[in-house]
Amino acid sequence: MKTTPEVTLRELTLDDAEERYKWCLDKEVTKHLNMPEKYPPFSLEETRAWIDMCINKTNGYEQKAILTGEGKHIGWIDLKNIDHLNKHAELGIAIGDKAYWSKGYGLAAMREMLHWGFEELGLNKIWLRVEIDNEKAIKSYRKMGYVEEGILRQDRLRSGEFVDRLRMSILREEFVYESKI
Ligand SMILES: CC(C)(COP(=O)(O)OP(=O)(O)OC[C@H]1O[C@@H](n2cnc3c(N)ncnc32)[C@H](O)[C@@H]1OP(=O)(O)O)[C@@H](O)C(=O)NCCC(=O)NCCS
Repeated sequence: MKTTPEVTLRELTLDDAEERYKWCLDKEVTKHLNMPEKYPPFSLEETRAWIDMCINKTNGYEQKAILTGEGKHIGWIDLKNIDHLNKHAELGIAIGDKAYWSKGYGLAAMREMLHWGFEELGLNKIWLRVEIDNEKAIKSYRKMGYVEEGILRQDRLRSGEFVDRLRMSILREEFVYESKI
């Protein structure tokens, strides 16, 4: 049986900007992320400004850095569109360092973020939108326990083409923090 890799989530720092910028130059990483059509999608300055907004909580994002058990920075994860009235929020994730893909780090990071969102933010549902051809991510979300809510038709304009997105969600009552994936 595979052992789940250890992961910690920490608050962002401005020093994260260089790695974030580097990851955003990688079209394999950004293909399915909601980013501007231009290349690079963001300058280093824009990346710094974005991270600064996350740190100061002025953009509505609860975004955290994903670290391996050894403390290596490998990606980011966030909750946004936080609806305090109805107790739900939207999750986003990227493992920017491709050397860490398909090793369980995405699942481990998601599990920490779900636990935090349900316990600390008091959410009842955490949902996401994933492009219909992002098979790797959909597989990972299903493994995590997300279920499909429906197709959002032509929901993303990607390289001049409209792409459907799948909306998925997991409820607090469905989430088992300690479960081995
Ligand atoms: C989508 C994404 C977050 C998934 O994260 P990941 O770390 O690559 O993948 P997971 O955590 O789901 O890992 C599961 C894979 O690791 C394998 N694995 C290895 N060890 C494992 C372990 N201990 N536990 C679980 N899975 C393990 C699984 O078999 C599975 O392999 P497979 O993908 O070949 O079937 C990541 O690939 C990514 O950032 N992609 C680019 C950005 C993106 O598309 N983000 C999502 C936008 S909606």
